[in-house]
Amino acid sequence: MSKQTNPPVRRTTVPQIRARKGGDPIVSLTSYHAHTAAIVDKYADFILVGDSLGMVMHGMESTVGVPLDLMIMHGRAVVKGTKRALVVVDMPFGTYEESPNMAFRNAAKVMKETQCQAVKLEGGARMAETIRFLVERGIPVMAHVGLTPQSTNVMGGFKTQGRDEATWEMHLNDIKAVAEAGAFAVVVEGVVEPLAAQMTRAVDIPTIGIGASAECDGQILVLEDMLGLSPWTPKFVKVYGQLGGMIEAAVKDYAEEVSSRAFPGEDQVYR
Ligand code: KIV
Repeated sequence: MSKQTNPPVRRTTVPQIRARKGGDPIVSLTSYHAHTAAIVDKYADFILVGDSLGMVMHGMESTVGVPLDLMIMHGRAVVKGTKRALVVVDMPFGTYEESPNMAFRNAAKVMKETQCQAVKLEGGARMAETIRFLVERGIPVMAHVGLTPQSTNVMGGFKTQGRDEATWEMHLNDIKAVAEAGAFAVVVEGVVEPLAAQMTRAVDIPTIGIGASAECDGQILVLEDMLGLSPWTPKFVKVYGQLGGMIEAAVKDYAEEVSSRAFPGEDQVYR
């Protein structure tokens, strides 16, 4: 009898994501650690190790303080925990804006040390030269336009973009510039629906929306937000699980059982 072998699991590739423009919606979530990544891996086309981890995992007030080494540490864990989803790691603030050379050095470090398949960086037209420089040298880039959280100090907070129609031309120029520069996909964050529709139609690469309506070619959410683990929930998030409440109930039960000596019980003791 011949021995049956399962076909090897192949990771989604950058060209495969790129080819999904206008097709079946692209599913993606953030993940920052191996065990959650292994779950997300079963359902997501790509996983983003977002610099939101600074706020979600490390209690920072914004993503501005996130160091490169932290992204590398979490990126490595997510790659190790996954087999099929494309893994994209965020370039944190201050590691790519200064020059294309600096961006290349740091992005290459991220890719070598995490073994991820692509990096993401924020900014539209102003980052086009850098995106072109990286792509020409073998680094796939996902762009990020609209609300760009690393610019929170310039914007004065996390503000929905495009409420004033006079700004639409700038946002359209941004998305066209990153697409022309060679980005394989672009996150569109926090923009009003009609602008998201125009931005999606303006480029031939997939738009991945977060707070940017169903007009985009795919969607991404921060995993902890959709699991009900975050202290507050932005309007654009749908909460699919109430893990915060479940964790609290479990921790409370544990504390009570330790206090009353009900834990460890018979089943948890080596005889
Ligand atoms: O850092 C992050 O999690 C992100 C997503 C919000 C797109 O950039």
